[in-house]
Amino acid sequence: MAKDTLTVTDNRTGKTYELPIADGCIRSMDLRQIKTGGDDFGLMAYDPAFLNTANCKSAITFIDGDKGILEYRGYPIEQLAEKSTYLEVAYLTMNGELPTKSQLEDFVHKVTHHTFIHENVKSFMDGFRYDSHPMSILASTVAALSGFYPDAKHVKDRATRRQQMIRLIAKMPTIAAFSFRHSQGLPYVYPDNELSYCGNFLAMIRRMTESKYKVNPVLERALDILFILHADHEQNCSTTATRVVGSSEVDPYSAVAAGITALYGPLHGGANEAVLRMLREIGSVKAVPEFIKRVRGGEGAKLMGFGHRVYKSYDPRAKVIKRTADEVFEVTGKNPLLEIALELERIALADDYFVQRKLYPNVDFYSGLIYEAMGFPVDMFPVLFAIPRTVGWVSQWEEMITDPEQKISRPRQVFTGAKKRDYVTIDRRG
Ligand code: CMC
Repeated sequence: MAKDTLTVTDNRTGKTYELPIADGCIRSMDLRQIKTGGDDFGLMAYDPAFLNTANCKSAITFIDGDKGILEYRGYPIEQLAEKSTYLEVAYLTMNGELPTKSQLEDFVHKVTHHTFIHENVKSFMDGFRYDSHPMSILASTVAALSGFYPDAKHVKDRATRRQQMIRLIAKMPTIAAFSFRHSQGLPYVYPDNELSYCGNFLAMIRRMTESKYKVNPVLERALDILFILHADHEQNCSTTATRVVGSSEVDPYSAVAAGITALYGPLHGGANEAVLRMLREIGSVKAVPEFIKRVRGGEGAKLMGFGHRVYKSYDPRAKVIKRTADEVFEVTGKNPLLEIALELERIALADDYFVQRKLYPNVDFYSGLIYEAMGFPVDMFPVLFAIPRTVGWVSQWEEMITDPEQKISRPRQVFTGAKKRDYVTIDRRG
């Protein structure tokens, strides 16, 4: 008769064990009972980079990587991108349900009225060299916020938690825009509470001498869609970093700063920046076949913006972004690198190397082209990923903090170092 268990025979001892299966998982701790003798620690699971380990139960984001499905709280990403707004999606991500009209108004009001940062935060940002990467400024400044909000350490208190979550969502565009202005040597522009979340961000980036910045509605909506697409992506590298650091019960600013630094890497949120640099290096449509040959030849070249740990089909976010790109280019004019990107995609999708490995464009392949057309320098691309991902980080962080099964993260290791030996004084070392 079918049973939700796994029977394991340890061939070292001949003993058989029956392990329960729930949600398609066995519990690694159930392996610990499998021992060769009294002084054996017990069996562990070895899984570098967590290729096949579920680290949590989560109700926030669902991905089916084979079918190219992404849902936040059950709602398909395509529908949210078409019909919703970033702040509505943020509410949904944090609370599990779409807001009523008054709930949304209240949420938008709260976010809008927490966009200012303490003047000392501004002075802190001034300390960075003019050529600092805005992502370094962002990560350090968010970590510094824990010094401004010492009450944030009361992570078990829901009201305190929620206040920091709102603050983080609200202040991230301000810090991001200030980090951009600082790197450009431009004066900071304070938030304008009459503008939308994305409109205000664009104004803080762009405004010069005009008293009121006129936001282009197409670009404002395009950025809002991009923010929706980036809001959460379950247990990726930066979210895992946020959860792991947060599991020590440190304040959420410190935990989210860890998320930002994880996102900075070129294999994660830094990929959109790497895509643009790659497209520039390729330089022309004519040079695409040669570049693909280098990638296939394993000469260290990677097709940035392609491949994903979870998606083994077209990333659904990339599909929406491709459509959004056309709308943006109608306003800004076509990004000349688009032709190279389209040719790369065309050749790669028909090439054995990519087909066999199921490598498709991911979210970062086209997003950089839009950001560049909007006038953002490449350094700002990962920052543009970090702003909307903040809601994912704080929602996942809160889910972790309130999950009774969670504890401080502390994996095991397989020790491969030297066996115990005696210290040798320096004069006797050969
Ligand atoms: N170009 C060329 N070959 C690739 C690529 C690529 N972009 N991605 C994977 N491969 C190859 C890889 O060399 C390996 O080949 P082989 O089996 O011969 O050794 C095979 O495909 C499997 O790749 P993997 O490295 O084992 O896959 P992974 O799950 O560890 O890595 C990834 C996923 C996203 C880090 C990787 O695909 C990659 O480096 N892509 C480029 C960077 C990128 O676009 N990152 C953005 C990810 S999406 C946004 C986000 O979540 O941050």
